[in-house]
Amino acid sequence: MNSIERNQHIGVFDSGFGGLTILQEIKHVLPEYSYIYLGDNARAPYGTRSFETVYKYTLEAVKKLFELDCSLIILACNTASAKALRTIQQQDLPKLAPNKRILGVIRPCSEQAGLFTQNNNLGIFATSGTVSSHSYEIEIQKFFPNITVTPHACPMWVPIVENGEALSEGADYFVQKEIHALLEKNNNIDSILLACTHYPILLPKIKKYLPSHISVINQGSIVAQSLKKYLLQHPEIESHCIHSGKIQYYTTEKAEIFNTIAECFTHSPIIAKTISL
Ligand code: DGL
Repeated sequence: MNSIERNQHIGVFDSGFGGLTILQEIKHVLPEYSYIYLGDNARAPYGTRSFETVYKYTLEAVKKLFELDCSLIILACNTASAKALRTIQQQDLPKLAPNKRILGVIRPCSEQAGLFTQNNNLGIFATSGTVSSHSYEIEIQKFFPNITVTPHACPMWVPIVENGEALSEGADYFVQKEIHALLEKNNNIDSILLACTHYPILLPKIKKYLPSHISVINQGSIVAQSLKKYLLQHPEIESHCIHSGKIQYYTTEKAEIFNTIAECFTHSPIIAKTISL
């Protein structure tokens, strides 16, 4: 499709539940639009998968959201943003839907992350995939060349959240372990970016074990503010968006399972539909 039809939604994609933390912030800042959330829960986690696999899965999700009439898609998944966004934007979008747009979360967070540290030592918690892509170090250095960025992968954190164990005692061990490992790498860190959409769900535990002088940067509000700015600057996209204030939820897993766990993220009832990619 070359021209955009009217009545378009804003698509928000994540490998699973994590993007709900971003969607909530977006909805808070921009309540008037119509959103479609798509969680690829059946194939999560993405964080340990290869570039090829994350690219393939993310492209399938993007195509589905285009079919569902989204003219703007937010890849609210750091792993997908790190491993698939650039290729999809440069290689696939011009052929698939040249007038539609896909945005990620790494660029807006990198533009802001350096503003939080007082002593130029920033820690990053992310999935193994995001860490091994080095996307955050590369992007942050462009905006804040004097900052030391120390990334650290937390491979157990996503499975803990996806399985609804974020508040369990078992989660304490893994939260403590990764905080300790990050601070062993750089004990001067004064701010940490949670660069995985699932991690804000572990915030109560993270705060419990993090030394109190270290601040936590939550990416949801940064992404929401950046989207607001984008829509103001791009009337050709904004003018096609429906103003219905509604959210539709889709998952690749069983809808009942999604609804139950998603409600822990949103604290309000959710009725999702199952979809295959
Ligand atoms: N939510 C994704 C992110 O922000 C990762 C979760 C996963 O591993 O699937 O990176």
